[in-house]
Amino acid sequence: MANKSKILVTGGCGYIGSHTIVELLQSDYEVVSLDNGLNSSPDVLDGIEAITGVRVVNVDVDLSQTEAALEALRAHGPFTGIIHFAALKSVGDSVHQPLRYFQNNIGATLTTMALMEAMDIPYLIFSSSCTVYGRPEKLPVTEESPIRPAESPYGATKQTGEILYDQFFNTQPGRNGISLRYFNPAGAHPSALIGEASTNQATNLVPVITETAIGLRSELAVFGNDYPTRDGSCIRDYIHVTDLAKAHVLAMDHLVQHKNQKPYEVFNLGIGEGVTVLEAIAAFEKSTGENVNFTISARRPGDIDAIYANNKKITEQLGWKPTEDIQSIMRSAWAWEQVRRK
Ligand code: WQD
Repeated sequence: MANKSKILVTGGCGYIGSHTIVELLQSDYEVVSLDNGLNSSPDVLDGIEAITGVRVVNVDVDLSQTEAALEALRAHGPFTGIIHFAALKSVGDSVHQPLRYFQNNIGATLTTMALMEAMDIPYLIFSSSCTVYGRPEKLPVTEESPIRPAESPYGATKQTGEILYDQFFNTQPGRNGISLRYFNPAGAHPSALIGEASTNQATNLVPVITETAIGLRSELAVFGNDYPTRDGSCIRDYIHVTDLAKAHVLAMDHLVQHKNQKPYEVFNLGIGEGVTVLEAIAAFEKSTGENVNFTISARRPGDIDAIYANNKKITEQLGWKPTEDIQSIMRSAWAWEQVRRK
């Protein structure tokens, strides 16, 4: 077997981690997952195997505990790169438990740097977020848009991660990194064998829509329709999870092939279009024929009116293009919801 590049995927049993592992394996990378099940289940490894034929090894260790992680990973190296997803990610939850988010998310980020030094790993991709822009004044946001005060402790952990990686890669010759600033990942793998399966209760719009449509929830609360937008509900840039996963492979290729112009680079990862909450619900109903029972309720603290990406940089420099739209997101999310609840 050609000596493939081996990638450590932290949070590999999570929603985006699992979809990225599928794309890495199908792009001829070898993969090891690290995940302690804080918000995921190892069952996803069955789905990955069913899709790719590969049984991925998962190392069950808390990444925020550096020594333990080092100990657990030594036998699995050497690694060409790390793709770092492992983090708590609920904007709403982070407001209620900031210290848990700081310890988990920033602790894990610090460990990835210790791993790169101890195991001589040259490349890293960081799962960042459009939340680093805070409340943007101008839309669409570019990578040069001002980084404004984080609107939540979750957003603050992503801003901190970027600051630390920027300093780390600009002082460590031979080590290079990329931050991908996700907009709103949604949808599921077209096989419906993997999808969004947080063990904590879903708070994101798309899983709440599918759980309402399948009857797990009696109704969906639309958090406000009095925003200054075309229909009063918030605007977001929904990106299909497989499009998002493919961008990670292109980003790792970019580093492995030494195409990066700087030791640390940042890219927006969104489709470049905004969809309102009410439009998303209508897209679900139109693409699935299912009805969603919703009511208009109060605004949710921490929400911003609107945000969507200018994705010119990633398209030009990584050759990435989105292939799926909001209808495809809703169809795949619905197919996954039905399989999940069988
Ligand atoms: C979307 C819209 C809600 C639920 C996400 C991720 C975060 C980060 C940024 C990557 C908002 C509305 C939602 C509901 C609703 N991504 N909504 N009723 O807050 O944009 O954050 O993207 O790092 O990790 O969570 O996503 O899906 O929670 O909300 O009306 O029951 O849907 O008000 O306008 P959000 P979301």
